Amino acid sequence: MSLVYIDGTFYEKENAKVSVFDHGYLYGDGVFEGIRAYNGRVFKLDEHVDRLFDSAKIIALEPGVTREEMKKIILTSCAKNNIKDGYIRPIISRGVGDLGLSPYNCKKATVVCIAGSVSLYPEKVYTEGMKIVTVATHRNYNESINPRIKSLNYLNNIMAKIEGVQAGSPEALMLNTAGFVAECTGDNVFAIRGGILYTPDVQSGSLDGVTRRTVIDLAIARGMKVVEHCMSRVDFWIADEFFITGTAAEIVPVVELDKRPIGDGKVGAQTKALIADYKAYVASNGTLIPTL
Ligand SMILES: Cc1ncc(COP(=O)(O)O)c(C=O)c1O
Repeated sequence: MSLVYIDGTFYEKENAKVSVFDHGYLYGDGVFEGIRAYNGRVFKLDEHVDRLFDSAKIIALEPGVTREEMKKIILTSCAKNNIKDGYIRPIISRGVGDLGLSPYNCKKATVVCIAGSVSLYPEKVYTEGMKIVTVATHRNYNESINPRIKSLNYLNNIMAKIEGVQAGSPEALMLNTAGFVAECTGDNVFAIRGGILYTPDVQSGSLDGVTRRTVIDLAIARGMKVVEHCMSRVDFWIADEFFITGTAAEIVPVVELDKRPIGDGKVGAQTKALIADYKAYVASNGTLIPTL
């Protein structure tokens, strides 16, 4: 049995429903997070809740709960669903309004939390690497829907995902409107060349990924130099190694971009080392899920 939190009450999955007049449904007006639990701990809980509240602030959405209350909702959702290893999806939407798009007619935000599981890619992708392409759909322009907002409106990414999948590419590289690399549809991107780890800065149009930040810290801890700056596709084509990061995907090696092999076309040694570091790190860090 799966229990879903909605506005103060836990409902069985079948009865977990929100109104069709919620602007989250009508307009994609809201924000969300994707969080993992490992070994009975919620990984990077503070960071995810901070990003959720940052996203809400950017779209002028008053969550109606405090950060501490949100953390408790997440931990209780895990406890009620006996989550040891799992995936948690808190959502704050604008709430019930009328058919006009003005958010000012929505009295109160709707707060939801789903605690379940996720599995994005087959194991083979982690051992043999992924082959991807760049798609024509650009990442949102910073001054339209800034990519730092983890909003319920994911159409930009979904359009790119459709293009990628149609080209046989399970993930897809997205450029910003200036033609520089932003990120993949649901993951941040990294290149390694000459032992240096490179990733586009968030101003290039990416979500400020929690996994991204964790990987940067792990790389620094292993003595690597890390550079966050503006990057073009060429930097990835000529990289020694390439990988993508995300909470759900974790670290996925990329061995081909736009039909060009990355390095020798095999999963790189430094990527493998970072994957091992990441696995060890997530296994022993996080906020303990309480027993009810
Ligand atoms: C567009 C986008 N970029 C990057 C990421 C990776 O971010 P994180 O590592 O915080 O999951 C995600 C997933 O949350 C995403 O949706």
